[in-house]
Amino acid sequence: MRNFHVSVLAGVAALTITGAAPLQAADPAAGRTKAKACRTCHGIDGIAKIPIAPHIAGENRIYLETQLKAFRTGKREHEIMSVIAKDLSDADISDLSAWYASIKISVEVPE
Ligand code: HEC
Repeated sequence: MRNFHVSVLAGVAALTITGAAPLQAADPAAGRTKAKACRTCHGIDGIAKIPIAPHIAGENRIYLETQLKAFRTGKREHEIMSVIAKDLSDADISDLSAWYASIKISVEVPE
């Protein structure tokens, strides 16, 4: 079981290094301004303001970009996010992802 996990992780790491498209230049400050469109649900700070929305603060930039592009193409579907992502350009997605990824989070694990 343990070895299985290790080999899956190694596969993911290899994918990240060889398979991912190079990240576009991004402007987190511009992303902060653009995040006004996300505020009601995810907050400017990336901490969800409504129970059905996920926290996205401190999430990996590659993950955020991948999800937003998946909503835009229809590969991932959600009644709200599919509509929102449709209007986002590649630059918007890079800037927004860079903004939310740049937020530092900390967690407190219960005893
Ligand atoms: C009206 C509410 C609302 C607004 C506005 C909104 N979102 Fe969302 N967002 C959601 C909900 C709800 C989900 C969960 C979708 C699901 O369940 O698949 C989500 C999911 C996401 C995810 C996927 C997170 C994950 O953990 O997989 C990203 C990334 C995201 N939103 C980014 C944004 C960005 C960037 C904006 C602004 C341009 C935005 N959202 C605006 C409600 C919203």
